[in-house]
Amino acid sequence: MSSWNSETPLQIVVMGATGPLGSACTLYLAAAGHAVACVARSEKRLEALQAQCTPRLGLIAGDLTDPAERVGIHASIGTFLRPDLPAVFLFALGDHRDSPLGGDEAAARALLEINLTLPMLEALHWAPRLASGGQFVFFADATVTAPGPGFHAYSAAKAGLAALTKTLAQSLAPAIRVNAVAPGILNLKPTARPDARERWSARIPLNEIGEPHFIAMAVEFLIRHPYLTGVVLPVDGGYSLHHH
Ligand SMILES: NC(=O)c1ccc[n+]([C@@H]2O[C@H](COP(=O)([O-])OP(=O)(O)OC[C@H]3O[C@@H](n4cnc5c(N)ncnc54)[C@H](OP(=O)(O)O)[C@@H]3O)[C@@H](O)[C@H]2O)c1
Repeated sequence: MSSWNSETPLQIVVMGATGPLGSACTLYLAAAGHAVACVARSEKRLEALQAQCTPRLGLIAGDLTDPAERVGIHASIGTFLRPDLPAVFLFALGDHRDSPLGGDEAAARALLEINLTLPMLEALHWAPRLASGGQFVFFADATVTAPGPGFHAYSAAKAGLAALTKTLAQSLAPAIRVNAVAPGILNLKPTARPDARERWSARIPLNEIGEPHFIAMAVEFLIRHPYLTGVVLPVDGGYSLHHH
C-alpha cells in the first residue's frame, strides 16, 4: 500500500472538467487545496470554470478524439504534473444519448469512444507514467448493474468501465488505486417536463434527485481512503436498488 499521507495535497487531472459533475469535482477539490488541471474541448467553458474559483486551475483545451490534439493534451498534462509526486486522474468524460435499434452506427461508435474507449486508453497511457500513490477514478452510472431498455451503447460502455475498474485495480496494485463512482439521477435537462423532478424523486428511495456536489464528496472520499481499490460506488440515493 502507498505510504502517501492522506492529508497531502494532490495533483489532480480532471478529463471532462466542464460538465456538471466534472466542474463540481474541480471546484470542490481545488477548494480543498489540491492542484487541479482541467481538460475539455471548449476553451470558453474552461475559462468560465476558472472564473468560479480563486485557486489557479491548469486549463487544457483539446479534443481527445483527435489523435494530434490528444498528443498536445498529453504534453500539457506532462508539463502540469510533477513526476515525483502522486497524481490522480478523474475521467468525467461522457455523452448520454440513445443509440436506437437500426440507428446510426457511427453515432453508436462515438458513444462507446467517449464513454469507454478514451477513458480506458487514457488510463493505459498514464498508468506506467504515474508515481506510486497515483489513482484513477472512472465515472460509471448507477444503472450499470441493472440497466433498463434503450441507451444501448451508453449502457455497454458504462458496464465496460465497471469491469475496467476491477481489472485495472488488480493490474496496478499496490502502487496505484483504481475506483469508480456510479452517479444516479442528478441534473435534469432544461427541457424536462415540469413534473419531472417529482416523478424522478418518487423512484429514488431517498426521495430526491442528487446534486453534483454529492459526486464530488464521493470522489474525494475514494481519493482519500487508502484502503479502497476496485470499488464501483453508487452515489444515487438508493436508485440502483430498484430494477428499472
Ligand atoms: N450528470 C448525470 O446525471 C450523470 C449520471 C450518471 C453518470 N454520469 C457520468 O458522469 C460523467 C460526467 O457527467 P456530466 O453530466 O458532467 O457529463 P457531460 O455534461 O456530458 O460533460 C462531459 C465533459 O467531457 C468533455 N468532453 C466531451 N467530449 C470530449 C472530447 N472529445 N475531448 C475532450 N473533452 C470532452 C466535455 O467538455 P466539452 O464539451 O467542452 O469538450 C465536458 O467537460 C459522465 O461520464 C457521465 O456519463 C453523469
